[in-house]
Amino acid sequence: MKKTNLISLANITKDYNLGGLIVNVLKGITLKIENGEFVAISGRSGSGKSTLMNIIGLLDTPTTGSYYLESVDVSSLKEDELSYLRNKKIGFVFQSFNLLPRATILENVILPGIYAGLNTKDRENTAKNILEKIGLFKHINKRPNQLSGGEQQRVAIARALMNNPDIILADEPTGNLDTKSGQEVITLLKDLHKQGKTIVLITHEKDIARETDRIINLTDGRIDLD
Ligand SMILES: Nc1ncnc2c1ncn2[C@@H]1O[C@H](COP(=O)(O)OP(=O)(O)O)[C@@H](O)[C@H]1O
Ligand SMILES: [Mg+2]
Repeated sequence: MKKTNLISLANITKDYNLGGLIVNVLKGITLKIENGEFVAISGRSGSGKSTLMNIIGLLDTPTTGSYYLESVDVSSLKEDELSYLRNKKIGFVFQSFNLLPRATILENVILPGIYAGLNTKDRENTAKNILEKIGLFKHINKRPNQLSGGEQQRVAIARALMNNPDIILADEPTGNLDTKSGQEVITLLKDLHKQGKTIVLITHEKDIARETDRIINLTDGRIDLD
């Protein structure tokens, strides 16, 4: 795979206004992530990891600084262009899985395909294929609460893959899991990396961060190690 800059952030800051008090959460983040990288963003709780991930994932906008996703200056995009890009390019995985409790495993995985406008047959086939590869096909008609935490997180990863994104952003994906299930999730992310996905893994756990090829550490809103 040809290496190109996929994510380029320059001097990104993020301030929150808490009832008149301005809090500087990100204090000038400059980093590049190439396509095909497997990167951890580590740091203590409160260091700004999720804020940074939300900006990278186009879920939030920086206060100042520039963000290019491939060659696109995302600050120039309108809301509908941002959601289109987000839906097409990025798959999200969260600590708490965020599966729909009343929907089946298959329906949960299909969901992003509905937003992307795939037809019924295509999205069902795609979802089944992904679930098959991840070893969850036998659970397709179950509800999330009938699966273990590790399995639910793998379903969430299957859902993140539905629109074949280039980038997987995972925010503390092992945070609610025991060590063994957490390791299974990491193994799955490593497999996806081998298949060419760019993976950004956010974690405050040093052991988990060390499983990746590159660690970017945040302390108090700044990168102090890369
Ligand atoms: N929407 C918000 N409004 C105000 N403060 C926020 C908001 N989101 C995060 N923060 C603050 O920003 C800091 C960094 O938060 P976060 O990015 O969630 O850190 P991490 O993911 O590393 O634990 C924390 O002090 C948090 O309280
Ligand atoms: Mg966080």
